[in-house]
Amino acid sequence: MPVNPICVAIDTPDLDHAVALAKTLQPHVGWAKIGMEFFYAHGIAGYARLARTGLPIFLDLKLHDIPNTVASAMKALMRIAPTPGIVNLHATGGYDMMKAAGEAVDGRAKLIAVTILTSLSDDDIWAAGFETARNTQAHARALAALTKRAGLDGVVCSPHDLAGIRQDLGRDFLTVVPGIRPADAAAQDQKRVATPEAALAAGADILVIGRAITGAADPARAAQDILDTLAEGLT
Ligand code: C5P
Repeated sequence: MPVNPICVAIDTPDLDHAVALAKTLQPHVGWAKIGMEFFYAHGIAGYARLARTGLPIFLDLKLHDIPNTVASAMKALMRIAPTPGIVNLHATGGYDMMKAAGEAVDGRAKLIAVTILTSLSDDDIWAAGFETARNTQAHARALAALTKRAGLDGVVCSPHDLAGIRQDLGRDFLTVVPGIRPADAAAQDQKRVATPEAALAAGADILVIGRAITGAADPARAAQDILDTLAEGLT
């Protein structure tokens, strides 16, 4: 894993802009994350152009389907070059789906599971019928434990869920954490947020940061400022 824990979320359908951002940010971040917005627009060719900037890629496609379909999709993703550093799926797809996906990836990338989206509140998961109690943290903990039992490398989780997940599953389990906002930034559509320093102190391995960097007037400066605030926690 790179020492720099910042993973910039490049959420744009504009390929040239995405590549320019990756080039600008390369000295200041450890990873680039691209998701559905980018991948559905530009496919494997766009992915490869971005990956050629040299940044390890977290390919955030959040697969969620029956075990056979997800395993086949993972096999296809493992054939693209360069191989993504991290791929993911939804833990709510269940144990069998995660296990099948893990066998398909076969150690060629880190495979992690999304627990509860950081945009969802307790009331949201209740409204979606996911819970008998309005408690995202308990739900995320249970899904993280299921993910570990299925043999995956780690989870995507909210900063608020980190302490419980670390307590249950220990330090040797990758935690990739979105919902990160520097102290002076607005939460926007995220509901369970933390500052980069707080998330790192709570045990995050990788901090997924999108708009606080990509939406800044000077993205390289914004990323470097965040890295500087983290420097103490990294040593
Ligand atoms: O702009 P912002 O920092 O909110 O971007 C967060 C990124 O992390 C987005 O790409 C979003 O899709 C992703 N993400 C998330 N919550 C999850 C999983 C991924 O916000 N649980």
